Amino acid sequence: MNKLLESVIENNRHWTQKGKLATYIPELAKMNSDTLGVSIITLDGEEYYGGDYETKFTIQSISKIITLMLALLDNGRERVFSKVGVEPTADAFNSIINLETKSPQKPLNPMINAGAIATVSLISGKDGEDCFKRILNFTRKITGNPSISINEDVYKSEKTTGDRNRSLAYFMKSTGVIEQDVEQVLDVYFKQCSIEATCKDIARIGAMLANDGVLPWSGERVVSRSTAIMVKTIMVTCGLYDASGQFAVEVGIPSKSGVGGGILAAVPSRMGIGVIGPALDSKGNSMGGIKVLAELSKELDLNIF
Ligand code: DON
Repeated sequence: MNKLLESVIENNRHWTQKGKLATYIPELAKMNSDTLGVSIITLDGEEYYGGDYETKFTIQSISKIITLMLALLDNGRERVFSKVGVEPTADAFNSIINLETKSPQKPLNPMINAGAIATVSLISGKDGEDCFKRILNFTRKITGNPSISINEDVYKSEKTTGDRNRSLAYFMKSTGVIEQDVEQVLDVYFKQCSIEATCKDIARIGAMLANDGVLPWSGERVVSRSTAIMVKTIMVTCGLYDASGQFAVEVGIPSKSGVGGGILAAVPSRMGIGVIGPALDSKGNSMGGIKVLAELSKELDLNIF
């Protein structure tokens, strides 16, 4: 399997040249655009690696599935989905248009920035610091990695340049979606996006989801089966934003991308996969990462459809 992963990486490394690093968060522009790596964690405990799998990256929007799970644990399904919908959108991840014209009381889904910021506002904590500490501890648990923490430079970079997210959040405060202090909610959101991980860490989260909410390495249940199934469903419909349909056709695995170049994939009952390739396509998804997943899906017969 390691041989297969090495060859899949080398077959697809050329795609990284066609993508571009995310520059709207200046610190992300410092990544190496040739990087391409993969990690697989199977439900029976095997681990496989290929390419630049040791590269650390910030998980960015991949954090949105972590905070969705935590918000559901804290509030239950009814309250969470009274604040945020589950409908896919054909617009960019940071688009503002639907908030005003279509759905002022409810961002369309928890994977776009507006929906993710609304979701994080629901997480319990006595203040922002406490709330983020809970997110970090939950992330450490579901990755099995107690040393996970944030990349301070990326966090500061996001915080200084996050005006689009600020505008989404203040708009949602004006329509009552966000009830808390906006700057506090945004600070937690910027921190969750700046959590630093490797392919193995995100593959482990994928393995937990593939295993319907139970950590395969310890047998501990962290979320209910119905939550795990729901999160995987939202990953299929919204996980790659306005490229989710194309990705479902090409790859057919519940996945979540981030502008740091990571993609987390969960193959039900089989494995979690983490890929990193910071060169992005025009929709903000890893160019090489998608191609690696497409080849693996074919080679290992992973398409859920
Ligand atoms: O808020 C942002 O724009 C980034 N911190 C996260 C966006 C992101 O990862 C979109 N993913 N492809």
